[in-house]
Amino acid sequence: MSVRRLAEVQPESFDFTPENRAWAAKEIAKYPPGRQASAVLALLWRAQAQSGYWLPKPAIEKVAQMLDMPNIRVLEVATSYSMFNLGPVGRYYIQLCGTTPCMLRGAEDIKAVLRKRIGEPGHVTPDGKFSWSEVECLGACCNAPMVQINDDYYEDLTPESFANLLDDLAAGRPVRKGSQTGRVSSEPVGGLTALTTLYGLDGRSGKDSAAPKAPANDHPARLVHLDEGAAHAQAVAEEAHIGEALAKLPVDATSEEKANAVGARPLALQAPRGAADDLQRIKGVGPVNEKHLHDLGVFHFDQIAGWTRAEIRWVGTYLAFPGRIDREQWVAQASNLAHGGTGPKDGGAHELHDVKTGH
Ligand code: FES
Repeated sequence: MSVRRLAEVQPESFDFTPENRAWAAKEIAKYPPGRQASAVLALLWRAQAQSGYWLPKPAIEKVAQMLDMPNIRVLEVATSYSMFNLGPVGRYYIQLCGTTPCMLRGAEDIKAVLRKRIGEPGHVTPDGKFSWSEVECLGACCNAPMVQINDDYYEDLTPESFANLLDDLAAGRPVRKGSQTGRVSSEPVGGLTALTTLYGLDGRSGKDSAAPKAPANDHPARLVHLDEGAAHAQAVAEEAHIGEALAKLPVDATSEEKANAVGARPLALQAPRGAADDLQRIKGVGPVNEKHLHDLGVFHFDQIAGWTRAEIRWVGTYLAFPGRIDREQWVAQASNLAHGGTGPKDGGAHELHDVKTGH
């Protein structure tokens, strides 16, 4: 365990904003009289958020006063938990997990990037944008190596993808949270090996499967396509939403401006990971669309398989065929192909249900 000290330079005073004072009063009221010290973590966390993600000494003393605790007791809490920063941090505060699973999966290489780009742990870059520290397991070991930046996780990192992520943050460009490889949740890197029937990945449709259907869900698109009724309703609602959003744009809006108005651009790879997949095996993707997808940094089935609803809307609008990705079930086809299955173009017995018609 490392020694944790208060910052040498401290503000003269601290007080909660009126909103945070009202919030703190509610937190304290959750506990019986005489037990208000139970709110110490919550109040310190709120004080840290208000102070730019670090805890000045006056904030610690303010929390002690509000909870009727000796200063030293609150200081003990603040110095015990690495979630509390005792000195200023960068606007993007990076916590690198260095525990065994992440270490075995390349955390040391990520650390080398941090040292090169930012400096030693605790150092804030001159522009105030970045600082970092090494922490213990953050509970995302299946997606190692990973970092937490402010409140979000960034997983499945490589030195290259992490360096690109830092570049994007520094330039104020949008970044993708979660897996940087497009992996859905914590499923195996090589594709699902279990529950494939549940998700309709064994070549049978969800309709015919005896397994229970996945619930309607706004996140992974391939879960949505199995619930045909919900998918149909969602597709109709989305098309209406897209039409309304596009109608508000100027007539000379670019494809990208239109796509940005209705969805979120999928994460792009700068180059294929090894050989690109033959995207033309997806029914609906010919040479022209494959070229467009390559231009968007999409080279692999698993990238398309991981598209969210917002990303489907973005690509569909960018390529000027809203709704077609759903109708042709690109995501479901890509998911099958990514998992070693066949697509309709392969002439196999594979069936996919059209979300519009159910046929
Ligand atoms: S070991 Fe890194 S998140 Fe658990």
